[in-house]
Amino acid sequence: MAARPLLRSRALRSLSSAPARISRPFSASTTRCLQQQQQQQQQNATTSSGSSPGEKTTHFGFETVTESEKTQRVAGVFTSVAESYDKMNDLMSFGWHRIWKDHFVTSLSPGLSSPSHPQAPQHILDIAGGTGDIAFRHLHHAHVLNANPNVAVTISDINPAMLAVGRQRAAERLPLASQRAALSFLEADATDLRAAGVPDASVDLYTVAFGIRNFTDIPAALREAYRVLKPGGVFACLEFSKADAHPLFNAVYKRWSFSAIPLIGQLVAGDRDSYQYLVESIERFPSQEQFRDMIVDAGFVVGGTGYEDLTGGVAAIHKGVKPIERK
Ligand SMILES: C[S@@+](CC[C@H](N)C(=O)[O-])C[C@H]1O[C@@H](n2cnc3c(N)ncnc32)[C@H](O)[C@@H]1O
Repeated sequence: MAARPLLRSRALRSLSSAPARISRPFSASTTRCLQQQQQQQQQNATTSSGSSPGEKTTHFGFETVTESEKTQRVAGVFTSVAESYDKMNDLMSFGWHRIWKDHFVTSLSPGLSSPSHPQAPQHILDIAGGTGDIAFRHLHHAHVLNANPNVAVTISDINPAMLAVGRQRAAERLPLASQRAALSFLEADATDLRAAGVPDASVDLYTVAFGIRNFTDIPAALREAYRVLKPGGVFACLEFSKADAHPLFNAVYKRWSFSAIPLIGQLVAGDRDSYQYLVESIERFPSQEQFRDMIVDAGFVVGGTGYEDLTGGVAAIHKGVKPIERK
């Protein structure tokens, strides 16, 4: 019989009440997706300039590049957009990103304790945490709404420029000394948290918002999430997704994305290319179901469909629980 995860929060309770999807070998849709990627990579390996024979390729937006080139170019994008990132988020999404982020964090209710174990300590790792939007919400929920000062949050990001903006904003925006004391910063690649010293089974809640589509090796990042979470710990991801179920809305949304966002990037941030990449990376990210299957393949148990669509699927929340015992 499958082990049931420990219940620590409303998010976990809602996961456990739905039929559990259990870890299993590569699912059909993931296999199809990987096969397509492999075929494309083989084709492109012969045509892509700059890729030496044998070096693995991946996508950077709509371009095919070597893995090392992708890592460098993603770093370039976020170094370039760091200062204008928060203003651009509001302009590009008409402020919707704030509503999605509020909903994401509320659904996880950080710091919520049981009457038998009040103010239970919790370690939250906010991966690709950038300028701190998610981490600050975690701290507000835990320390203010749930009156639990024993919740610590680490903002982890590969990019020092984004972390520098996050540090500056933390000093300005966190009103309580307990919140500022509970916040730490970590420069780390999400696909290799071991290199940054994050131990096995040390994290209660792993969050990643609008970050994972930028990773060079998403399955490696999911494996790392699984490794660093405690048994019963929760993986939660907020990411742009597919609004295909609503064709008319989707057509308007895509037209807006591809025409307006790079233009706004050019006018406001003086950087068209970075925003062109951001739009293309959204288009290349797997569907809700494909990403859910990747989470299951990493060993997580998901409840129900495993995801929640926001604004017709423009964004989606995926959650998974690390089981108490691996099957
Ligand atoms: C679109 S921003 C999201 C920032 C923040 N989570 C938010 O929701 O506002 C994406 C972030 O992912 C980070 N990132 C990209 N690749 C990464 C990797 N391999 N490991 C960790 N962070 C990465 C970037 O540096 C950037 O800060």
